[in-house]
Formats: sequence, structure tokens, C-alpha cells
Amino acid sequence: MVLKDKHIVLGITGSIAAYKAASLARLLIKAGAEVQIVITPSGKEFITPVTLSALTGKPVVSEFFTANDGTWHSHVDLGQWADLMLIAPATAATLAKMANGIADNMLITSYLSMKAPVIIAPAMDLDMFAHPSTTQNIELLRSYGNIVVEPAAGELASRLTGKGRMEEPEKIMAVVENFFTRQGSLSKKKVLITAGPTYERIDPVRFIGNYSSGKMGFALAEECARRGAEVTLVTGPVSLKTNHPGITRIDVESAAEMYNVSIKAFLSMDAAILCAAVADFRPAEQYAEKVKRSGDMLNISLVPNKDIAASLGKMKKANQLLVGFALETNDEETNALKKIIKKNLDFIVLNSLNDAGAGFKYETNKITILNRNGERKDFALKTKKEVASDIIDETFP
Ligand code: C5P
Repeated sequence: MVLKDKHIVLGITGSIAAYKAASLARLLIKAGAEVQIVITPSGKEFITPVTLSALTGKPVVSEFFTANDGTWHSHVDLGQWADLMLIAPATAATLAKMANGIADNMLITSYLSMKAPVIIAPAMDLDMFAHPSTTQNIELLRSYGNIVVEPAAGELASRLTGKGRMEEPEKIMAVVENFFTRQGSLSKKKVLITAGPTYERIDPVRFIGNYSSGKMGFALAEECARRGAEVTLVTGPVSLKTNHPGITRIDVESAAEMYNVSIKAFLSMDAAILCAAVADFRPAEQYAEKVKRSGDMLNISLVPNKDIAASLGKMKKANQLLVGFALETNDEETNALKKIIKKNLDFIVLNSLNDAGAGFKYETNKITILNRNGERKDFALKTKKEVASDIIDETFP
């Protein structure tokens, strides 16, 4: 039983899905966990603390003080006690407060003092979920290392149909169990990850770049760190944040900078996952001043950049793993297999631009993994976080 004696703080907020939190508490307890519930004032409007404390065998915490005897409920103690904080359901208001540190109730103070990892299962109406402020808050929470269980699509309490209903307790349980199974499985491993695009400077204001958002590489870095690895994330210019303490982030601009940092870092690594979309060419010369329009044609000669993957492939020792990515528009498999050999990779992750929802900028990706023996594994369209988990399972089986 992976949950045996695990201490779980279950946070419940004011959503109609709060009724499902009772089943969730029951499942956690049946699986051997000790559950302490923290509920927001509006959560209590949806489900009574009596029901919850009867299930968990512990008084439900909601206020900073017990009114009749003045006992202070220490959120700091909860933060130390927990092996995991699970917030289910999490409303848009709670997500916003968590993302911005607005500590106006016991659940948020507990969240801010939490020493343990946090899993969040949002629940709200479809338009609230689709609002850019919710999307941004969820991105921020992910960047703090929190795990988000995406809500499901279906009929909502409002009778509207769309994405926003809290995932079913059994599915949330599966995420929790998976979390404890994999936690620490990569401790003492050192992993280098390259991510994002590179910018190849033309003049002080212009560059040659590409559409890579860095999302796949950041998802890989976060998942490796979550499993206990020491991650070095070398990233080109992206607008993503990461705050996980297990990640050392090195920001670079050009392929040449990424090359220098990666070559040095690889020496002490157990594995490198090369997810960056590195420019193959750079301008032969960089103009010191901004190029002016003259009416004539402007020719920019390009010279090849060094291939980071191929160079690491040459350095690679028997106990090191090297994983590459390939994005092909034609003859995908043949070209990907050639790259495995040319760059001395252990396996390659093939993304196709032909698959809807896969590739640059999307939150989702659809991959195929090919190994040196030509064996092929196809995966379904999944969130980049889930894809990251599949790739890491493949790297460290
Ligand atoms: O050759 P191609 O660019 O398609 O290969 C893709 C793989 O090689 C990716 O893993 C990418 O990160 C890596 N690569 C690299 N350095 C380059 C070009 C590609 O590490 N200069």
C-alpha cells in the first residue's frame, strides 16, 4: 500500500464538487493514509465538517482560532506534518489566492507554509476555467512545482457542458498513488535538459529564431525534479518560469552559448534529454549597428552551428544516457532513425507536425519513441506533463 501511514492534508473549497471530496477522503483513508481536512469558509456551505470529520476521524480545520477557547490552529504545523497537500476541489478564487499568496483563510496559509508537494484538482464552470486569468494562475502554480489534475469535460452543475468539472475521485487517487510510487525514484540522478529555441543575432535588434515555446523541456525538467533528480535546465529565450528547488536553470541565447554550457555540464550527468530547437545556422557576421534599409537586397550568409546532440554523443560514456528529439515533416521514421545513429542517441522522441495538437506552443503533444534497434512505441495525444512522464519512464525504466 503506497499510501500506508502517509499524512495527507486535504483542502476543500467552495465548489459544488466539494461533495466528491468526501469520497476522496474515504478512498485515501481506505488506502492507509491519515487525512487532515482544511476547509474554506465557503467550502462549509457545500459540505459539513461533521460529515468530513466522521470520515477522517479528525476535527476539520477551518478557522485560525477555535472561537470558544481561543486555540490557535497552526498552519505551520500542518505544513511540517504533511507528506502531501491535495486541494480538491480548488475554485478559481482559491487558485488565484494560491498563485498570488493572498493568505486570507486557513487553507491558503496552510498552502503557503506547506513543506510537502501539492496536487490541485480545479473545479469551476467552463467559462471561468477558460478565462485567461485562470489559465495564467494555473501556469504560475505549475511553475511553483504544484501538480495540476486537469478538470474533465462534461455536464456541469450549471447544466452547461464543457471543461471544468473536477476529475473523479478515483482518477485523483490514481494521480496521488502514482505520485508516491515515483517520488524519489530519481534521487541521486543528475539530468541535463535543453529547452526552448535559440536566437541567432543578426544585429542588436534582430535575430533568426524559431517557434519553440520551451514547454516540453520545462515539463521534462519539472517531472525529473519531482522524482528527485538534480536537474540542470539549459534554456533558450522563453517566457516560462520555474521555481522547483531541484532545478538549476541556465538561460542562454544562442546555439553557441547552449553548446558551451551543455558540453561542460554533461561531464557529471547521468542523462541528457535534448529538447531544445537549436538553430542549425547562424549569421556569418553580426552587425554592430542596426542594419538600415537601403533599397538594395540584403544578403545574410549563414554558417552551420555545432550540433550539441552529436557532440554529447561523441563524449558519451557507457553509463550515460542520451535522448534526442526529432520534428520531421516528411519521412519521419527514416530520418529519425538516421539521427539516432549519427548523434549516438539511446532513443529519439519523434513529434510530428502532422498530428493535430502536437508540437510548438500547444499544451499537448503526441509522440513516438524509436530506439536504436528500430523498435517503435506510439503514444496517444496527452498533456506535455504526461508526455514528460512517459519519456522519463522510458529513460529510467
Ligand atoms: O538534426 P535535428 O536538429 O533535427 O536534431 C534534433 C535533435 O538534435 C534534438 O534533440 C535537438 O535538441 C538536437 N540538436 C542539438 N544541437 C543542434 C541541433 C540539434 O542538440 N545544433
